[in-house]
Amino acid sequence: MTRIISILNFKGGTGKTTTVVNLAAGLALRGWRILGVDLDPQGSLTASLGTKYSHSLYHLLTDQATVAECIVNVRDNLDILPSDPSLAQAEGTLWRMDDVRQRRTILAEKMQGVSGYDYILIDCSPSINLLNENAVFYAHEVFVPVSMEYLALLGTKQVVATLKTINQTQDHRMTLSLIIPTFYHSRHRKSNEVLETLKRHFAGQVALPIRANVRLSEAASHYLTIYEYDPRSHGAADYAQLVERVINDG
Ligand SMILES: Nc1ncnc2c1ncn2[C@@H]1O[C@H](COP(=O)(O)OP(=O)(O)OP(=O)(O)O)[C@@H](O)[C@H]1O
Ligand SMILES: [Mg+2]
Repeated sequence: MTRIISILNFKGGTGKTTTVVNLAAGLALRGWRILGVDLDPQGSLTASLGTKYSHSLYHLLTDQATVAECIVNVRDNLDILPSDPSLAQAEGTLWRMDDVRQRRTILAEKMQGVSGYDYILIDCSPSINLLNENAVFYAHEVFVPVSMEYLALLGTKQVVATLKTINQTQDHRMTLSLIIPTFYHSRHRKSNEVLETLKRHFAGQVALPIRANVRLSEAASHYLTIYEYDPRSHGAADYAQLVERVINDG
């Protein structure tokens, strides 16, 4: 069965896209078949992997292309459903739909024919919007990258509250299955305080931290994954460890 996972935190810059790129690439290197869905109009996932495409999620959500026409292969075992700023217009189209429920389930509907993947990872934007509601209604699980600062904890609380509302009011079940501490500095007191807070609230659901490592941002600016750019870096080691955790939890 395909594990469909939204990577979400309503706080910006917590390492969501970096996590999708390097988790997806790491799983693909281990032989799993992966689809990354770029649900952020910033198009950062699409750009980080140097994706070349002619149709994007905008075309899919506005009935101008089929899902098969939008998905492109970017690495062995790794496909991407790309996006760019035009996706923001698609959100406007969703708001104008008469059927209130369909506004939130259109992504799930459009993705129905997609098969053959072990994991589908969705890169979300840092806001409470209709596109992210679609991500939550399509996925079975949510992973939350949390940078080591208090505002990121607040974003995490908002994700927990959103999932609770959906689980209580809709016939769709979502699990918050993994908290991923990011930008971790072992010698900074704040890092350790935030990490302890996460462990207190989420116990066994907290992954080992991803350390702050400039090689991760350099890799993205070269359109490379961390395994391609610097396989011996801390970033590569930490994301490889996350890949193992995700496989073992599956
Ligand atoms: N562990 C890390 N160490 C150092 N830099 C990192 C790390 N993780 C991500 N970065 C860099 O920090 C910036 C923000 O990361 P990223 O884009 O993954 O966050 P995001 O949560 O997707 O942001 P947004 O909310 O805007 O979508 C990027 O420049 C990225 O390359
Ligand atoms: Mg992002």
